[in-house]
Amino acid sequence: MNPCTLNQLGVTRETPWAVGHFNIHNQEFIRAVVRAAEAERSPAILAVGMMSVKYMGLEPLISACQSISRETSVPIAVHLDHARDIDIVREALELGINSVMFDGSSLDFEENVEKTTNVVEMAHDCGATAEGEIGIVPHGTESVSQAQMTNPALAIEFAERTGVDFLAVSLGSVHGMKSAAASLDQSLLQQLHEQIPVPLVLHGASGVIDEQISLAIEHGIRKINVNTGLKVVLKSFLSNRFKEDSESDLLQDLDLGMEAVSESVARRMRLFNSSNQA
Ligand code: 13P
Repeated sequence: MNPCTLNQLGVTRETPWAVGHFNIHNQEFIRAVVRAAEAERSPAILAVGMMSVKYMGLEPLISACQSISRETSVPIAVHLDHARDIDIVREALELGINSVMFDGSSLDFEENVEKTTNVVEMAHDCGATAEGEIGIVPHGTESVSQAQMTNPALAIEFAERTGVDFLAVSLGSVHGMKSAAASLDQSLLQQLHEQIPVPLVLHGASGVIDEQISLAIEHGIRKINVNTGLKVVLKSFLSNRFKEDSESDLLQDLDLGMEAVSESVARRMRLFNSSNQA
């Protein structure tokens, strides 16, 4: 199938499931996600983040996502994650990406509205979808302060004025946690879901415990972003392998490591109730 937009994955504000957004960094990661999507009959998002663009380049990464998606029989979207620069959004859209996220969460409200609106127009002109963010999901080990969490009145105004297709909100998760320990403000989420007419997005999902993810889906989260957790699976697999047998074949180890990543993606698809939704 040709890769599609976020709106063509089957997930809506009303569905009782969420679609997984999995950050990919090279061809092996792309294949691991797609293999899990096929096995689970689940839609999926291949997300191209800024660190991976630095590592592999924007064009090679997008074109690998596009060509591998075309071999599949489940809906896959190729999505630019956390762009803070309009030029990279334009370049990705020219390369035919299906969806873009502009992260203006650290800007002041008016600047975030203005830049996100510009990105939404650019994306829609190309037939792509656009995600924006309101509230701050911090990085590293910081916890989330009340002031960083999404303010419902600002979120409603932001969604109306920008016309975003999906909206990322801050509910207590933190980017980059290596194990799951965070809980979410579920009542804030319920309030946002009631009042905002577009599907809501959870960033920093690697650090959120499973029970809280399930509740978040019940309360309105429809796109769940996972990055760190998958890198942790590969790194711990390879470091254990090296301890067990330092003479083993690297490519065989890498294959087994990517199988572990794929299983971790499949487990999340089941947790997100997206299995058998393709
Ligand atoms: P984690 O790295 O914490 O899983 O967050 C991923 C993310 O939000 C990508 O946008």
